[in-house]
Amino acid sequence: MNILKDSFGRKFPYIRLSISDVCNFKCGYCLPDGYKINKSDNRSFLKIEEIGRLAKALSELGVSKIRLTGGEPTVRKDFFEIIKIIKENSGIKKTVMTTNGYRLDKIAKDIKDSGLDGINISIDSLDANTFKKITGHDRLGEILRGIKELQKLNFKNIKINAVLLKGVNDTEKDFNKWAEFLKHNEIDFRYIELMQTGDNIDYFNNFHVSAKKFNDYLNNNNWIIQTFGKDAGPSKNYLNPKFKGKFGVIAPYSRDFCKTCNRLRITAKGDLRLCLFGNTGINIRHLMQTDNQIEELKDLILKQLNFKKESHYLEIGETGLTKNLSTTGG
Ligand code: 5AD
Ligand code: SF4
Repeated sequence: MNILKDSFGRKFPYIRLSISDVCNFKCGYCLPDGYKINKSDNRSFLKIEEIGRLAKALSELGVSKIRLTGGEPTVRKDFFEIIKIIKENSGIKKTVMTTNGYRLDKIAKDIKDSGLDGINISIDSLDANTFKKITGHDRLGEILRGIKELQKLNFKNIKINAVLLKGVNDTEKDFNKWAEFLKHNEIDFRYIELMQTGDNIDYFNNFHVSAKKFNDYLNNNNWIIQTFGKDAGPSKNYLNPKFKGKFGVIAPYSRDFCKTCNRLRITAKGDLRLCLFGNTGINIRHLMQTDNQIEELKDLILKQLNFKKESHYLEIGETGLTKNLSTTGG
């Protein structure tokens, strides 16, 4: 039973857990100068035992799914052990991850063997040059090879996310390229509207574009919005019988986006974040130290949930604690 509920009646079956702030990419909207150690905060990233206890507490609170994020989660040497401890000991039913896909061609087999239940890969463009411009890395090829590997191994539940950027990846030509990809691949592809964070105001002003342009494309090309089924995520999905994959749109600036929020976040250093853009972020790590603290940890999470606000208030320029998404994993 899910007992995590906020004062607006929203339930939280789903947690995003960052396991490292470190990222090796330099996405223009996130870490344009690359990852830098935060010298004012010398806490280490959560240890595997702490993650194990946290997952157990969350599972006992009715959480059924954990998404591992970063930074880039696979930079952790104990990444596969983390999956193992969550899958084997916690009671959490689904463990998935969000990754930038680097080295995916090399670790595809390990991913399949780990029993991971799903993977979201960030690919902002199918054009190698544009990809390189956005991320600072010429690695589109290895990521696409990695996806092929996963498919060969019959890994299910592959999704691709791209941030929609004005004048960079928002033309009909870009959309058609993805459509061609979806024709042959049973993969969901979603555009995310660029979000303003504390660090990226200039970038946001230059590149933010409403998802309307993409929505119009979908409407003009016989993509039909999927109204049935309960989607675990914030994406609105579109179907077309001629295609194996689905299109999707994540539009955080749309009215009512927060009404269906079912996610909480925990940072790599053990802060509970009630909202990506909230100003509330208390540390809960001190209660992950011994097995007999699990009840206390559950109580604290439950109590904190009462402070979750109704909306992110992004539309009035509130970016809260979020300097960039590398600490909270998007
Ligand atoms: N706005 C929208 N999406 C972002 N991401 C990172 N920063 C932003 C932002 N400012 C995306 C990444 C990845 C996911 C984890 O979040 O591209 O797909
Ligand atoms: Fe790294 Fe993801 Fe940020 Fe890109 S968006 S720099 S891949 S954390």
